[in-house]
Amino acid sequence: MDTIVSGMRPTGRLHLGHFHGALKNWLRLQEEYRCYFFVADWHALTTDYATPQGIRQSTIEMVMDWLSVGLDPTRSVLFRQSNIKEHAELHLLFSMITPVPWLERNPTYKEQIKELTGKDLSTYGFLGYPVLQAADITIYKANKVPVGVDQAPHVELTREIVRRFNQIYRPVFPEPEVLLTEAQKVPGLDGRKMSKSYNNAVFLSDTPKEIDQKLSRMITDPARVKRSDPGEPEKCPAFQLHKIYCTEQEIEYVSKGCRTAGIGCLDCKKVMIKHVIDELAPISEKRAAYENRPEEVEEALVAGNRIAQQKASETMVEVRETLGL
Ligand code: TRP
Ligand code: SF4
Repeated sequence: MDTIVSGMRPTGRLHLGHFHGALKNWLRLQEEYRCYFFVADWHALTTDYATPQGIRQSTIEMVMDWLSVGLDPTRSVLFRQSNIKEHAELHLLFSMITPVPWLERNPTYKEQIKELTGKDLSTYGFLGYPVLQAADITIYKANKVPVGVDQAPHVELTREIVRRFNQIYRPVFPEPEVLLTEAQKVPGLDGRKMSKSYNNAVFLSDTPKEIDQKLSRMITDPARVKRSDPGEPEKCPAFQLHKIYCTEQEIEYVSKGCRTAGIGCLDCKKVMIKHVIDELAPISEKRAAYENRPEEVEEALVAGNRIAQQKASETMVEVRETLGL
């Protein structure tokens, strides 16, 4: 059976963007593959090294959401990166054989340096981000890595590091393949990408009332100033959610109503909001239960850490032998 590895940086409560972007995919994969899903808390430090205080809490919040959507700790190995010290050891060994130019030309690196101007990212750790990611993936001998397009260059780098390692020493690691997650784009309430930091997110833990309030004021086609102004669904961020959630008949009904000013935006959104609430209700209910017993989340992580630890230790025995250490 193929092995899958994927990680998520601990961002705290997860939102619809995470759900449609990654989690639904993970849920499918856990039915078919040996899956390792982990909290990349060391990776969080590459950008947030100055403010590590929130990472532990964000880890718990995030894993709570994982469990609430149905990731199953008896099927998938759910663990925390920083508990498995072997990742750091393999990262170190990989750093010996990784040419610096490979890292400097990484598109994600160049982009982030430009974008995150508020932070000093001229650090060794940030440059080496993909080397740590390569260790995360290969230490479980993963064959497939489900990620979005933005992360594909990192998996490509992992393959290059693996090839180099296998060639210099001996074939220890399989070359992992990218399993490109087809990106279902979820716009935020203001039309920008949904993101906690933009304050435009619908969280998986939101109550039906909060979901209704948030989506009711979500931005629409700006052409519809008055109720009598016709609009164009393709120019409406809210309609992107209709496309994810509504039936064909509903899409047809609201599109026509929008273009003819036959319905108002609120009526239009109601059709979609109902589906969002129906989908999230069981998730937020489960989450509320976990909030009352957070020790279950800790226990799930302890169990996952144990399995991950076992596999990572085995791989490292092999690696150390290979290098004669
Ligand atoms: N870099 C990934 C992200 O930001 C998180 C991550 C860390 C990861 N290690 C990984 C993803 C290994 C897949 C495999 O989303
Ligand atoms: Fe968007 Fe619907 Fe309003 Fe049209 S009617 S602008 S699709 S919310």
